[in-house]
Amino acid sequence: MAAARHILAIDQGTTSSRAILFDASLAVVASAQQEFPQHFPASGWVEHEPEDIWNSVLATCRKAIAKANLGASDIAAIGITNQRETTLVWDRSTGQAIHRAIVWQDRRTADACAKLAEAGHEALVAQRTGLRIDPYFSATKIAWLLDNVPGARRRAEAGELAFGTVDSFLLWRLTGGAVHATDATNAARTMLFDIGKGVWDKELLALFDIPAAMLPEVRDCSGLFGETAPALFGAAIPVRGMAGDQQAATIGQACFSPGMVKSTYGTGCFALLNTGAAPVVSKHRLLSTIAYQFGGQRTYALEGSIFIAGAAVQWLRDGLGIIGTAAETGPLAEAADPAQDVYLVPAFVGLGAPHWDAQARGAMFGLTRNTGPREFAQATLESVCFQTLDLIEAMHADWPAAGQGGRSVLRVDGGMVASDWTMQRLADILDLQVDRPVVLETTALGAAYLAGLDAGLLPEPDRFADLWRLERRFSPAMAASQRQRKVAGWRDSVRRTLSRA
Ligand code: G3P
Repeated sequence: MAAARHILAIDQGTTSSRAILFDASLAVVASAQQEFPQHFPASGWVEHEPEDIWNSVLATCRKAIAKANLGASDIAAIGITNQRETTLVWDRSTGQAIHRAIVWQDRRTADACAKLAEAGHEALVAQRTGLRIDPYFSATKIAWLLDNVPGARRRAEAGELAFGTVDSFLLWRLTGGAVHATDATNAARTMLFDIGKGVWDKELLALFDIPAAMLPEVRDCSGLFGETAPALFGAAIPVRGMAGDQQAATIGQACFSPGMVKSTYGTGCFALLNTGAAPVVSKHRLLSTIAYQFGGQRTYALEGSIFIAGAAVQWLRDGLGIIGTAAETGPLAEAADPAQDVYLVPAFVGLGAPHWDAQARGAMFGLTRNTGPREFAQATLESVCFQTLDLIEAMHADWPAAGQGGRSVLRVDGGMVASDWTMQRLADILDLQVDRPVVLETTALGAAYLAGLDAGLLPEPDRFADLWRLERRFSPAMAASQRQRKVAGWRDSVRRTLSRA
């Protein structure tokens, strides 16, 4: 029998699950995608049905394998990447979740977080986890489940329940309940993990009232996590890679040197700057996080997290009905009236970095009788550019060494970067070069790389970095005066939107 030489990447995102099959040269052989329902049970609440997550992953994996006309024995390894922070708790004996997954965007624990911050716990949390006390992260979501699902806390303390982010839940299901593990990048998003020492932090577990018995084991990003139950794909396939989706994109973009920065435009937008072997403490309200962990060695990143990017385009399509498909947004924006200064602050679920305002809600400014779909489209795409500017400026202020590698260029990926208009506007607003790679599937590519590395099919990071290819560079071309006027208008709009204004 020929040796297995394909790699299956599972990319479980906020709005859809995808399975992408790569060959050993990292060319895409087949892929499948499935959207699943979002549940909004109350204002600011966002939930996913765990069985939707699992069924869509299973279905897309099977579909991609069938499309490529391959069998399980052709696949050397699976890599998992996932929407981060989204919180699941399940029964260890049945594998059934005790509640819907609470999604990263969910704000139900905003008051609990505010109380913890008021009580003075911000410094401890920041020092151990690199994070801010915010409902975004898993810790207060776990506590909410334990306090609101009858009997859950007692059962968690008795070791009957397991917690996991989506990676961990999928690994559990894929291995037929044999493995309860996660990787360091996903653990770093729970607000319970000491990113310096690489261990679950006892003081934080006590602070958030989370029983240690429910936590997964934390491992490297590349390594043997377990094998799929043979019944799922016809034969067992080893799972050899795992990373949160933003970290996987950082790897897929080959940002392996300190100073390199990437920004991914999915549901939200997340910019990560590689800061090397030591975590950098942000003074400008960014997060410090783990970029990847190989052989027990952690590499760190500064992260700027924006909650709404592609989701704003989805709002134009599904909420307002002014576009039929996302691809219409760029051409519509291009035709906007240049005399109108319309701004959208898309604080639909509050604002993330660098504002961290869980109570803010979205607003538009500058509307006139002439404002129409074109100006809405432009304001929406520009809001993503302005938010990126806020992140990049904070990064440069936090880490001046970014000037050596990160200041001059930003590597971009994700669905929105297909729009030339948006990328040119991004370069103009940032006043930076924006590099779009040939492979835009960087998140899946990163997961495939982690799995293929452990399977012995792919080279070490520095040689993998040489394979990165530029498709197009966008250079700033906007007049300085126009840029300054626009940025000033954005800053004013944000000021008027903040809940504590
Ligand atoms: O932190 C949340 C992030 O991982 C979600 O990513 O691609 O689903 O917007 P995405």
